[in-house]
Amino acid sequence: MKVITTKNEMKALSDSFHQRDEHIAFVPTMGNLHPGHMQLVEKAETLAPKTIASIFVNPLQFGQNEDLDSYPRTMERDQQLLELGDVDILFSPTREEIYPDETSNKEVIEFPGLSDVLCGASRPGHFSGVAVVVKHLFETVQPDVAVFGEKDYQQVLVIKKLVQEYKLPVEIVTVPTQRETDGLAMSSRNGYLSEQERQTAPLLYQTLCQARDQVKAKAGCFSAIEQQASEVLTKAGFKPDYFSIRHADDLSEPNEGETRLVILAAAWLGKPRLIDNILI
Ligand code: PAJ
Repeated sequence: MKVITTKNEMKALSDSFHQRDEHIAFVPTMGNLHPGHMQLVEKAETLAPKTIASIFVNPLQFGQNEDLDSYPRTMERDQQLLELGDVDILFSPTREEIYPDETSNKEVIEFPGLSDVLCGASRPGHFSGVAVVVKHLFETVQPDVAVFGEKDYQQVLVIKKLVQEYKLPVEIVTVPTQRETDGLAMSSRNGYLSEQERQTAPLLYQTLCQARDQVKAKAGCFSAIEQQASEVLTKAGFKPDYFSIRHADDLSEPNEGETRLVILAAAWLGKPRLIDNILI
């Protein structure tokens, strides 16, 4: 596996692949890789002859009081995993490489109604930061296809919108959420959970499953189901941020009886804020 740290070198190499008509599948990450990330890598390998992964802890998507400084950085181990996973190239740029000056730090890409609801409402600027960095990465890596996890459902919709609005020539492919055996969605932030919180954490997914079953059985209106789920989580020690039944395509608020739905939840459990979702 070749490790590249500069945009120029990455771009030149991608140019050479394209000249030889070798398609590129891309998996962007912030590192601290777990089997969820590796599932994306596996998928990428089925989609194109060249697989490129990136590791960049993107400061623009962290809020002022968030965990940018303490975000787990495990580069050596990550490199080994990617190497074992047969990735061709790891792109791991420095902060200065992606944001060379003050103005590049200030770019904003918002999609009102999509990037400012749910996680976007409680983490202002987060999805703008994601969109800005993914646009930079796409322009540098020039992938034909890029793979993202459904665990970050809202992020996937933001990226699809980014591709559409900026006419970026890349196909977006998604992979289902990888879970621990007890149902907890794998996440780099699960490492922040205490032993006791770790025992409680699977309740988030259980509550989503229960709400899905209630929606399917039409056992109450959407707002009653959301309210009940939040109460269950609060009683167990979570601090729910939102528990929301939304339209699966654009996260708008659905009318009762609509069927293309997703249920999304975010809740603090001790230090970390866990997110998860379930499609209906
Ligand atoms: P990160 O949190 O490192 O996640 C990288 C990719 O892995 C994302 O597409 C995410 O949805 C996916 N992923 C994480 N946990 C997963 C799980 N349990 N199952 C399946 N996929 C999972 O998401 C980001 O980084 C950043 O916002 C990024 C897109 C790289 C931009 O900075």
